[in-house]
Formats: sequence, C-alpha cells, structure tokens
Amino acid sequence: MQSKIEKLKSEMLAELQKADKHDIVRDIEVKYLGRNGVFNDIMKSLKDLPDDQKKTVGKLANETKTGLELAVQQKYAELEMAMLGQIAEKEWMDVTVPGIKPLKGHRHLIPKFIEDLEAIFSKMGFAVASGPDIEMEHYNFNQLNIPPDHPARDMQDTFWVKNLKDTVLRTQTSPVQVRYMEAHEPPVRIISLGKTFRKDSDATHSPMFHQCEGLMVGEDISMANLKAVMTHALQQIFEDPSIKTRFRISYFPFVEPGMEVDCTCPICHGEGKIDNVPCRLCKQCGWLEIAGAGMVHPKVLENAGYDSEKYTGFAFGMGLDRMVMIKYRINNLRLFFENDLRFIQQF
Ligand code: PHE
Repeated sequence: MQSKIEKLKSEMLAELQKADKHDIVRDIEVKYLGRNGVFNDIMKSLKDLPDDQKKTVGKLANETKTGLELAVQQKYAELEMAMLGQIAEKEWMDVTVPGIKPLKGHRHLIPKFIEDLEAIFSKMGFAVASGPDIEMEHYNFNQLNIPPDHPARDMQDTFWVKNLKDTVLRTQTSPVQVRYMEAHEPPVRIISLGKTFRKDSDATHSPMFHQCEGLMVGEDISMANLKAVMTHALQQIFEDPSIKTRFRISYFPFVEPGMEVDCTCPICHGEGKIDNVPCRLCKQCGWLEIAGAGMVHPKVLENAGYDSEKYTGFAFGMGLDRMVMIKYRINNLRLFFENDLRFIQQF
C-alpha cells in the first residue's frame, strides 16, 4: 500500500510537471484528488488494512494528499504568473513617451471676428439682430429710400434671384435696420452682422463678403453719438486706444447727411510711415476708409412707422473682411474662402 501511494504521488507529480495549461492541471487534480479520484479510493481502502498499518499508512496517505494539493495550487499559480508575463510582454508600453495630441477644430477667422464685434458692441448696449441672406427688393432697396428707378441701385451690382420675383441676395446688411424698426418701437440700438453679395470679383473684392451694420435711434441721437461709438468700437477692434476717426461727406440714399468714416491707420498709427519706410496699407496718408455712415434719412424712419419729428438716429455699415485682413496682416482676400488648412491653422 505504501509503495502504491508513493507511486501514485510520483506519477501525479510527473504529469503536473508536464502540464502547461490550466485545464490540464484541473484534469489531473480531478483524476487524483477529486471526489472519485484515485486518492479517495485509497482512503476508502484504508479500512481494510490490518490495525497496525492503518495508522501509519493513513498518516502517509493524508500527508501525501495534502502535499499534492499544495503542488496543484503551486502549479496553478505558476501558470498564472506565466500568463501575466506573456501579457505584460505583449502589451508592454513606455508610459513615459509623450502622448499624441488629438487634432482639434476651431472657429474660422471671420466668424471669430464676428463674435468679437458682437462682444464689443454688446458692451455698449447694442443688441444683435439678424435678417435673411436672400432678401426682398422691398427691404434691400425700396424701404431704404432706393426706389426702382433710383440711380443709387447701380452703386451695388446686385444678384437677382432667378424665378423669384423681386428677390435679391442682399447687397448690404442695411435691410436688417428696416426689418428691426418695423418690429420694434424706439429706442433702438442694434448691430447686424453677416454675409452680403455683389457682382464683384477681383483681388480685393469677393462676390460674397461680410458687413457689420449698426443702428441707433432715439430722441436726441446725434452725430456726436455716432462719432463716439465708431471711435470706441474701432479702438477695441484694432486693440489700439490711439485710434482716431474722421468723417468725410459722402452719399448713401438711406442717410442724410451721409459720410465715409476714416480711422487712423492701425499699422503706422496715422504716421504714414514706419521707421521712415512708407506705410503700404494707407499709402502714406495715415488714414483708412473703414465705414459708411450717416444720420438715418427721415423717409427711412417714416417707412418703418417712426415719427421722424421726434426721433433721430445714426446708422453705419462696414466691411468686415478687409478689417480682418488689416488686423491679422493677411494680404490676400482669397485665403478666407479657400479653406487651405495651412492658412486656417495659423489662427
Ligand atoms: N449699406 C452701405 C453699403 O453697403 C453702408 C452704410 C450703412 C452706409 C449704413 C451708411 C449707413 O455701402
């Protein structure tokens, strides 16, 4: 009996030694140590031994079984370690290597500039109004004191919408003035920003461009208010508190008087030159033409249902694309629309 136990033990250990998988160890465990395993047969047969052997053989059997159970547990642990080792080897990585920065999108310069303008004018109490890009002739022209036979229509080379009567791609943001005044009682203080369209296409004009329109109507609104608002806004836009503005008489049918607003050149600060080199932006004159403006024409106020005896107001309109070019030193208008990532990623 004793030798049988020793033999089983060495057989089992030999099998365990060769086992290289968890399942195989499990089979060996069941075969030798399981409820119906070989060792249980031995335990059962102990009772048939003569009394003097029962004790020693019983002890040997028990100790052997405990030892073998331990060997099985060790084998499991060994296999587990080997497996973790393999995983570690396969999935090894250097956690000190710098990560890969995920690509992030961002706003295009023009909409970003529009947001900046909205913030600047909001601080002066202006609300942001909007209107449709495809506009009725009525709002784009007629209500702005430009009836069908008016020569001023030629000032703006208009895209008419085919098969849609009296409809244009808005040539200016000014129709938003009219729409807003129709819907609101004075006082009014709004800006309106967005796309505008004219049949212009050359190095400095694109058929689609952006404007910012401003309108302030109330009692006692004067050109002094216009001057203050324009000067402050331009100083904020170009981040230059030294900027000054001047007005030159001009003509727009929806204002009277009408004027061009110039500001001191943000590049040479009105000097006309930088370190004795002539300023190319303002062509040495120190001033830039930046906006059209004026006091809202009484007819325009009345068209919107306002009492032009009681209320006055100013309006201005400025092209945004050129301002962005000046501010960010961009020398080609096309760059805004070509979506070349090498350009876009710089801003
Ligand atoms: N709408 C004019 C233009 O596009 C600009 C302007 C706006 C002028 C408001 C005066 C007052 O040319």
